[in-house]
Amino acid sequence: MAVSQFETHVHDVLVIGAGGAGLRAAIEARARGASVGLVCKSLLGKAHTVMAEGGVAAALAHVAPNDSWQVHFRDTMVGGKLLNNPRMAQLHAMEAPERVRELELWGAVFDRTRDGRISQRAFGGHSHPRLAHVGDRTGLEMIRTLQDKAVQGDVDVYMECTISHLLTTAGRVTGAFGYWRDSGQPVVFPARAVVLATGGIGRAYEVTSNSWEYSADGHALAYFAGAELIDMEFVQFHPTGMVWPPGVRGLLVTEAVRGEGGILRNKDGERFMWRYLPEDRRAEYAATDEEAQRWVEATSRGGEPSERRPPELSTRDNVSRAIYTEVKDGRGSPHGGVFLDISYLPAEHVRRKLPSMYEQFKELADVDITRGPMEVGPTTHYVMGGVRVDAETGASTVAGLFAVGEVTGGMHGANRLGGNSLSDLLVFGARTGAGAAAYARGQSASPYVDPAQVQRAARELGAPLERPEGEDPYAIQRDLQATMQSLVGIFREESDLARALDRLDDLEGRWSRTKVDGGRVFNPGWNLVFELRNLLAISQAVTMSARQRTESRGAHSRIDFPEQDDANWGGVNSVICRGADGTMMVTRTPLPPMANELRSLLGGTH
Ligand code: FUM
Repeated sequence: MAVSQFETHVHDVLVIGAGGAGLRAAIEARARGASVGLVCKSLLGKAHTVMAEGGVAAALAHVAPNDSWQVHFRDTMVGGKLLNNPRMAQLHAMEAPERVRELELWGAVFDRTRDGRISQRAFGGHSHPRLAHVGDRTGLEMIRTLQDKAVQGDVDVYMECTISHLLTTAGRVTGAFGYWRDSGQPVVFPARAVVLATGGIGRAYEVTSNSWEYSADGHALAYFAGAELIDMEFVQFHPTGMVWPPGVRGLLVTEAVRGEGGILRNKDGERFMWRYLPEDRRAEYAATDEEAQRWVEATSRGGEPSERRPPELSTRDNVSRAIYTEVKDGRGSPHGGVFLDISYLPAEHVRRKLPSMYEQFKELADVDITRGPMEVGPTTHYVMGGVRVDAETGASTVAGLFAVGEVTGGMHGANRLGGNSLSDLLVFGARTGAGAAAYARGQSASPYVDPAQVQRAARELGAPLERPEGEDPYAIQRDLQATMQSLVGIFREESDLARALDRLDDLEGRWSRTKVDGGRVFNPGWNLVFELRNLLAISQAVTMSARQRTESRGAHSRIDFPEQDDANWGGVNSVICRGADGTMMVTRTPLPPMANELRSLLGGTH
């Protein structure tokens, strides 16, 4: 079959993934004159961006007059344990306020301060109330706004389309191959530039805030196309997901609950976070319940508290480890979590500040959070590692391939601060859209796709339907998730990681023999086969990187190497790439150098 026999759509810039990052990149590329195609696996607007509920971090200094991009930069670097790409962290902190104001001009309706400015709330690891928010539905409001803007801006949207292969010509990415989920029919997208904006890898784990779409697609497509992935060991376990009932285990409970004063307690009623504050940062936190309570009261009046913040606002990596330890040591709640209580605040205030949480617990768990505590536990939420990109343009290490948002690595280092994902996708969405459009303008010839690659991709798609017998993809998925959850979770050690790699190897073998019943039309088992290919590859990348990093840093905690080892691992990125023989290789490279003026902002922390 020649390429011309496949349904084909040609664009200057093809954006794969239509969450906040993909939408913002598409808007920018289109505004710069590129013809843009935006592919989403699901329906437009259904994106993990909506799970960043509590706010978008930007040093607008509306609530805290002393806030500035410099403080935001420092918080981000300290939270990331200095493993962040410093230029990305700088651009992010400098440009986030402008991107948030722009979003407001495009129609986003943020909550206001008493004098009518955008309101900002506190989150873990941020020195000041910094998160501009829309109740606890911030990501949703952002998606709504960006979606309207993209559609009005004449971006061509392709919904319910899975991209299974990137197409390359002479080492450059020149398009993508995929299929429609409703018909199973193949489709080819020749493009001068391709932007990956596919989000995360949460479906590799049993307990996750990610919905079915987040199967490491962009990470794997980039890896198979020859791009480098960095820092894949750093997977963020958000401290608070629902733990009960089983059908909603992992569903996010926004950090805004703690930002508004939510208190964590174990089954004995102990406010355990006091015991887990890192010694070198203890001075930043309230010393007593009374001081923490004064902070909550000042916050609820909308001002910047002069008191120090409650211990629950430690960084996510630390709070997740604390909850995990409480449960493991037998001090957990009846359903294997801990208690998060905001019911001591006036009910009307809780309902106004946290409307979605109020509804979520009422509808799904029959719990009224204005009257009693929630049960919560860690949930896989975000991956800090991803495609290595140029900070200015979002270009990957493969020509023609760009990446933005959660699929990239570098911005958040070893641990992301809450709210920084939304500002990341706005800042680098704009930059990457501009970078891809400029690259596309420089490619004079129309994009060429190699018929042999297209035919090979089409044959691979058909194979699981044609095998007379073989492995069930659902069984492989269950075994993969159990492996990652139990062996590559919040705490790791050499023996578990080695065992995980053996199991992944075995699963890979089973995957190559998958057999799917039925046809191509809306066949979820068949869709799962390609998601599993991606999840298996990226789970291997996570595990190999975790095994290589023989220290504990940020979200990566090694039981056998409990200390942060700056002498050997400070300023070092883990790198995953594909060897000439097709096997996965893990190496390490030094972080990009930090400009002196940035170093001086870190004070004594570097
Ligand atoms: O807890 C939250 O609202 C999540 C925010 C984020 O991941 O940035």
